[in-house]
Amino acid sequence: MTIQNYITENKDRFINELLDLLRIPSISADPNYKESVFKTADEVKKRLVEAGADNVEICQTKGYPVVYGEKIISPSSPTVLVYGHYDVQPPDPLDLWTSPPFDPVIKDEKIYARGACDDKGQMYMHVKAFELMMKTNTLPCNIKFMIEGEEEVGSDNLGTFVKANKDRLKADVVLISDTGMIANDIPSITVGLRGLSYMEVEVTGPNRDLHSGIYGGAVANPINILCEMIASLHDKDNKVNIPGFYDNVEILSTEERAEMAKAPFSLDEYKKHLDLSDIHGETDYSTNERVSIRPTLDVNGIWGGYQGEGAKTVIASKASAKISMRLVPNQTPDEITALFTKHFISIAPKSVKVKVTAHHGGEAAVTPTDSIAYKAADKAMQTTFGKKPIPQRSGGSIPIVALFEKELGLKTVLFGFGLDSDAIHSPNEHYGIFNYLKGIETIPYFFKNFAEMSK
Ligand code: BES
Ligand code: MN
Ligand code: MN
Repeated sequence: MTIQNYITENKDRFINELLDLLRIPSISADPNYKESVFKTADEVKKRLVEAGADNVEICQTKGYPVVYGEKIISPSSPTVLVYGHYDVQPPDPLDLWTSPPFDPVIKDEKIYARGACDDKGQMYMHVKAFELMMKTNTLPCNIKFMIEGEEEVGSDNLGTFVKANKDRLKADVVLISDTGMIANDIPSITVGLRGLSYMEVEVTGPNRDLHSGIYGGAVANPINILCEMIASLHDKDNKVNIPGFYDNVEILSTEERAEMAKAPFSLDEYKKHLDLSDIHGETDYSTNERVSIRPTLDVNGIWGGYQGEGAKTVIASKASAKISMRLVPNQTPDEITALFTKHFISIAPKSVKVKVTAHHGGEAAVTPTDSIAYKAADKAMQTTFGKKPIPQRSGGSIPIVALFEKELGLKTVLFGFGLDSDAIHSPNEHYGIFNYLKGIETIPYFFKNFAEMSK
């Protein structure tokens, strides 16, 4: 049976199985959903077994488990390590969803649910593509699955797992569908990811909340001070104003930048899509460059003082913010975390105390375009999209990619089928049925090409 026939015959089941997976709220960030996260791991295990994987195992870690499974067809065949994650981001703000996040619905040929694209939908394409290859007797490579449950909270325990399982994870390449492409008629392959350094800061003024009339004007208001400090972290050119921040930033040549600029992109559509009257960013860089080859600093959350109904006249004792920095090659999270901490403490006025803590981090990654695996992916997309995919760097982060290279010496192919407009991490996340099925169709061609080209 051909790939296309198998998909046509089974597509309703493929979709329904994904919908069932999306019903389990595997929110790794929220301890209230602990049971659901573990339950999702069990479900993934079950699905791998049903698809035909051997040695399927729930591997416990200090946090949420890694689901492992494999099919070894021959020691002389190349081995592909498929990575994905079964955990999802918290769905809030809930009132902005047009249908409940864990009650998936199909609207306009798209599946709406938290995790539909990131990453349950994309991860499950691999399980179904594997099923297809098993059932049609066409699996040409050894395959190993490693599906984790802590990606959205920084993959804290994955380093330990990878280090402890180097033998089991031996492979020739890592294949990950957890990124996007330019458009459904403009296939692309992600060849770069940014790193991350995630911080939390707390500014303390007086030892208790104060009446803003009795004390206002005479004591430092930690919210005012925090805002000033945060505002000073960018200069007038929207560059990050932390000494040393750009010291190690990889500088691309004029030729490389010109090559990147060839990727199709419409600024007007971009603005329209986000309802923006103007864009914003570091001077002398294009929008695409700002979200790929340049590092950034953004406040992700800020709080303090009175947030309830009506007005309360108060000077808060404390104010806090969560701040992320996206990193590019050669910047390390350790280095940037240290620079940020030192700088943030140094700019605090004497009238307040500041506390700076680091959350998770990860290194940037660049993947090769001259490898057999990249060529296999390129050819697979040419077959199923009828067009050569464009290599493009992305702004998001998947810290495990740098780790796979460091610990296992493995390069990755970022074989993503999502779209920027899929609203991952936002309300109304969705994944096109076209994209889901196209992924299931394209993945077997990758395996076929990779096996043939590896000979
Ligand atoms: N799948 C995303 C990363 C991504 C999305 C990369 C789209 C490129 C394009 C992943 O699940 C994610 O959200 N990663 C986090 C980092 C992680 C350490 C929490 C991110 O990028 O914020
Ligand atoms: Mn993801
Ligand atoms: Mn994500």
